[in-house]
Amino acid sequence: MAILFNEKAKTLTLHTKNTSYQMKIGNLNYLLHLYYGPSIKDPDMSYQIMQYDRGFSGNPYESRNARTFSLDAQPQEFSTQQQGDFRTASIEVVNGDGSYSFHGKAADYRIVRGKYKLDTLPSVFDRDKDTADTLEVTLLDPVSHVQVTLLYGVFEEADIITRAVKVTNQGDRPIHLKKIMSLCLDFLNGAHMDLVSLPGRYGQERQVERQHMTHHIHTIGSVRGSSSHQQNPFVILCDREATEDYGSCYGFSLMYSGNFLAEAELDQYDQLRLVMGIHPKQFSYELRPGDTFEGPEVVMAFTTHGFTALSHIYHDFYRSNLCRSKFVQDVERPVLINSWEAAFMNFDDVKLVEIAKAARNMGVDLLVMDDGWFGKRDDDNSGLGDWYVNENKIRCGLHRLVEQINDLDMKFGIWFEPEMVSEDSDLYRAHPEWAMEIPGRHGVRSRNQLALDMSRKEVQDYLIEKINAILDDANIYYVKWDINRSLADIWSNALPPERQGEVYHRYILGLYRVMDEIILTHPDILFEGCSGGGGRFDPAMLSYYPQYWVSDNNNPIDRLKLHYGTSFVYPTSAMGAHISDSGRFVPLETKAVVAMCGTFGYELDATHLSRKEQKICKKQSDLFRKYYHITFRGDFYRLTNPFEPGNMTAWQHVTKDKKESLLSVVVTNLTCNGPQEYVRAKGLIPDAMYSVNGSKETRSGAALMNAGIPINREVPEYSAFQFYLVRED
Ligand code: GLA
Repeated sequence: MAILFNEKAKTLTLHTKNTSYQMKIGNLNYLLHLYYGPSIKDPDMSYQIMQYDRGFSGNPYESRNARTFSLDAQPQEFSTQQQGDFRTASIEVVNGDGSYSFHGKAADYRIVRGKYKLDTLPSVFDRDKDTADTLEVTLLDPVSHVQVTLLYGVFEEADIITRAVKVTNQGDRPIHLKKIMSLCLDFLNGAHMDLVSLPGRYGQERQVERQHMTHHIHTIGSVRGSSSHQQNPFVILCDREATEDYGSCYGFSLMYSGNFLAEAELDQYDQLRLVMGIHPKQFSYELRPGDTFEGPEVVMAFTTHGFTALSHIYHDFYRSNLCRSKFVQDVERPVLINSWEAAFMNFDDVKLVEIAKAARNMGVDLLVMDDGWFGKRDDDNSGLGDWYVNENKIRCGLHRLVEQINDLDMKFGIWFEPEMVSEDSDLYRAHPEWAMEIPGRHGVRSRNQLALDMSRKEVQDYLIEKINAILDDANIYYVKWDINRSLADIWSNALPPERQGEVYHRYILGLYRVMDEIILTHPDILFEGCSGGGGRFDPAMLSYYPQYWVSDNNNPIDRLKLHYGTSFVYPTSAMGAHISDSGRFVPLETKAVVAMCGTFGYELDATHLSRKEQKICKKQSDLFRKYYHITFRGDFYRLTNPFEPGNMTAWQHVTKDKKESLLSVVVTNLTCNGPQEYVRAKGLIPDAMYSVNGSKETRSGAALMNAGIPINREVPEYSAFQFYLVRED
């Protein structure tokens, strides 16, 4: 059992293969946080906590005249409210009597075999082979009768600890939750730490930023109704010296697709507190007596071996314990061609079949009919919500179109944007009250579409019925599920005025229900998520979709940064990447090398390609399949940082047994008459011998990793290289 209770010290310690995490039912039954880091045997780390009389830091009443115990300076598992801790709170609740306070004391704990489940939200799961255990610690406020249950999932082998939270109103009057954080983690000294986050924007998602901790609250979050292009629900706290290969790194990945917040506060004594959970903006959730609220899960990992090792922990775990789709492990993903950048909305059935015929020569398995096939949809001003085939465009009907594609020995995929509605649609005309609009006000326009009120059961039922009808009518192999605006006008006509603070979260709960009823009921369909590119690229979404569109930006040179940033937490197998016309000066071969750092596909009018270009594409599709087991199942290494000045970007995939590797390089800049450059491999066995691209001469792992591979500089701009390394001894 990876969770131990020490009776004498009253400590609870969670052990994974390489880490330990300890808490203590301490003074006055406050639940103190003692340790998270490399494995330790010590049953009680509380000697680390020194206690002083700290001016202006209050003491709980029960500590009487002892002025040295202040929650303002104690590391806690779950920071409280109005108890003399002036740092970031984990909970803000308005009790039935109107008071703002939560004084939770440890009341009980339970250790259970297996990983807990959440009833309302997606969470990671344990597989048969996993050694996973659960710890539940209950904090109870004896006055308000508000109970907080802290949940910990311990995946021993995977080196992962998860956290989630439940709040139950055990009193006899309604309470209102204003803030609830799933994770609170206190470090006794955080002045030496950096915070790494993945900010971005539309077309440039998940760029990487690193900042030193200073004495204020650093916030990372989204209030756009989705996890967003602008921030990602993932942060790293690391040593100031941490690099790809060295240094302590803590990762925190939140499984939630709506508004989120991470706050990192370096306090007056250089203690660091990180909290993470649902964003409190416009959040006010009523809990009637007996009601329970669940906060989303945070997936935590720690390593002393730098960012690469941290990424490997997440990649491995998310490839096995996040999504149950058969396309994650058992069935290889198809090479697809998507109609969007090929034809936008200007297509008909004949055009699609022509694209498919040309794409077949390129080794493509699947044609995806993107936006424009339904309702009245010739541009993006109308039609959303009308999920029936537009027979002016698909004149032969969907069924026949799919048959024609299948006759080419290809599969068929389709696009939906379920959560949205156009004002010019039959759905809006029939049910204007289903759209999110504040009564008496005009809604904020964004791509000229409104969001449906996903918190409403009728809306959910409508979508489930309409979309399932399409999926069941034809032989559909793939679905792209899109959302193309941020939420504004947060209002539900189905909720009374005093419950409007629940809409943001209820939207997400409704969305998850619709996804359960559409995605989980179609296990043979491959689902890909999308949000104007990668605007909702988060682990909760990846628990439904094996892959997610990284960005609408297909420029292969921009993609180098996009893939680099995304790879900090998400595996190559989750990253939707296509070859398109974008990047006019970049050779087709280079575009393919970049797309192989993802799920690989095309997004162009294949009928416009010459025979020669189609042949090049066929070769690239074959290579993608050849390297699939390396890129989809191996370890990923970032060899260069594209955000730093340099002439090339390089990355590498290595199989788990280290017998094969694919090292990829894109030359982004060639200085005239410049120095020779080398790319050093990683992750190989130093004394094993490897062939490079089938050459008879072999090189040792040590040479490839230390001396590196010389990169020919007499090549055209934006050339790319792939070095396929095979162990030969
Ligand atoms: C979004 C997606 C694109 C495409 C369009 C269709 O922008 O990211 O890939 O599907 O919508 O409207």
